Amino acid sequence: MEKINKSFGANNVLTDVSFRLEAGEICALLGENGAGKSTLMNILGGVLPADSGTILLNGQAVSFASPVDSLDAGIGFIHQELNLINDLTIYENMFITHMPKKGAFLDAAYMKKKTTELFERMKIDLDPSTMVRDLDASYKQIIEIGRALMQEASIIIMDEPTTSLTEPEIKRVFAMMRTLKQQGVGIIFISHKLGEVMEVCDKYTVLRDGHMVASGFVSETDTRQLAAHMVGREVNTDILSRTVQLGEEILCLDNLSDGKHFYDICLNVHAGEILGVTGLLGDGRSELFQTVFGAMGKKYIGSVKLMGKEVKFSSTHQALEAGVAYLPRNRKENAIIKDMSILDNGSIVELPKLTKNKLFIDFNKQEALFAKQVEELRIKMGDRLDLITSLSGGNQQKVVLAKWLMSNPKLLILDNPTQGVDVGAKEEIYNIIHRLAEEGVAIVVLSSEAQEVIRVCDRTLVLFHGRQVGELKGDEMTEHSIMYLATGGNQNESVRN
Ligand SMILES: Nc1ncnc2c1ncn2[C@@H]1O[C@H](COP(=O)(O)OP(=O)(O)OP(=O)(O)O)[C@@H](O)[C@H]1O
Ligand SMILES: [Mg+2]
Repeated sequence: MEKINKSFGANNVLTDVSFRLEAGEICALLGENGAGKSTLMNILGGVLPADSGTILLNGQAVSFASPVDSLDAGIGFIHQELNLINDLTIYENMFITHMPKKGAFLDAAYMKKKTTELFERMKIDLDPSTMVRDLDASYKQIIEIGRALMQEASIIIMDEPTTSLTEPEIKRVFAMMRTLKQQGVGIIFISHKLGEVMEVCDKYTVLRDGHMVASGFVSETDTRQLAAHMVGREVNTDILSRTVQLGEEILCLDNLSDGKHFYDICLNVHAGEILGVTGLLGDGRSELFQTVFGAMGKKYIGSVKLMGKEVKFSSTHQALEAGVAYLPRNRKENAIIKDMSILDNGSIVELPKLTKNKLFIDFNKQEALFAKQVEELRIKMGDRLDLITSLSGGNQQKVVLAKWLMSNPKLLILDNPTQGVDVGAKEEIYNIIHRLAEEGVAIVVLSSEAQEVIRVCDRTLVLFHGRQVGELKGDEMTEHSIMYLATGGNQNESVRN
């Protein structure tokens, strides 16, 4: 790609960006939220036209009027936001752009067979006939990756493919990337997890505010330097130490089971405490806390106590009223309201409190509260009254997070809170979480990233297939010990290791 320029209105998103990819190479495309990574890839993937600049494929100038054009030219695209059709099966989604036919009918048997073969290679235990709507976000991400792998592309664009995957799945995706690389496929890998970049990429290119600011070989750099290129300053990623001041018990779960996702869960969280809950795909942590939040109905046994009083919420509204807030895991489907503005998406939980009388919203107060968050989290946006969908993925996540951080809850549950958020803003978010805990909020962080749990939590529970298999405190929380428990290891053995 040579001298690519792109603006949205007055917002110059890409300025003279040039980018090269060779066959058999994995290149990281890095940059802060809003730097222009997805926009550049959307131009390569035929989703957006460039204002100027050229694309050369094997030395030939090409232009793509649509995503199908780009795909036909051998470019597979795994999008940042999930792009599956909920009302179709997995195998239909796999072949969505080019459905094979047998006479006048779709060749379902062929599609199923191909999908089954792929899943075997990926070691994924899924029935291809499952409806996509019934899948958890992590599985959907795996399907997206599988679909790109199926297309026999010569270039694969992976725009944050691992945000909701856990360690073993990520390793499997990396193994497949290496195989493709050996077959001569060129891969562009976008990720905010710099450890992943160091592990799997050969080269890197960094965008800052739409300009190419650095590129080189991964073997000649480290995560600190990469972060500094992205942000334009040093990023401190040392473990934050804090003294925990425990207040009253806020949440207590006693033998909670729903018979399907989680079993016999006993835990408590005090005011001022940050509890991590982690595990692998299918560990049930999201379902467990969605149940606590009243989002899964009342079909469970055992008890939920909030500040010593037994509760059984039948709706999330009741939970909110009682002081429980929950940041959902899947942003696109559960957390943003697409046809509302950035400002309204960022402050909607506060609306009841901001309403002076039943008719009017106190706009000044709403704006002041939101402006503070925009500054702290460095949310990059045009006008705050623009639609939320005009923001980059990471900036949408920051807006959603701002909303829950402002909601003044007693118990704050954050499910995968920093998905797609850049390194600098992650640190800010961890600081805000610590500050809220110091103000006496009880906080539960659900995360698949061991590093995140270690950095932000006081202690963590590890779940395995819906059962709690261990608890680690302070220094006991290491990537090794968390992974050991998460893969079904025994706690006493883990301590001995
Ligand atoms: N459809 C659009 N309309 C208006 N502005 C847009 C649109 N798409 C992107 N932008 C703007 O372009 C800029 C770059 O966005 P882009 O999605 O490329 O960022 P990114 O580097 O992928 O960030 P992230 O890491 O958060 O995904 C942002 O300021 C964003 O608000
Ligand atoms: Mg992006």
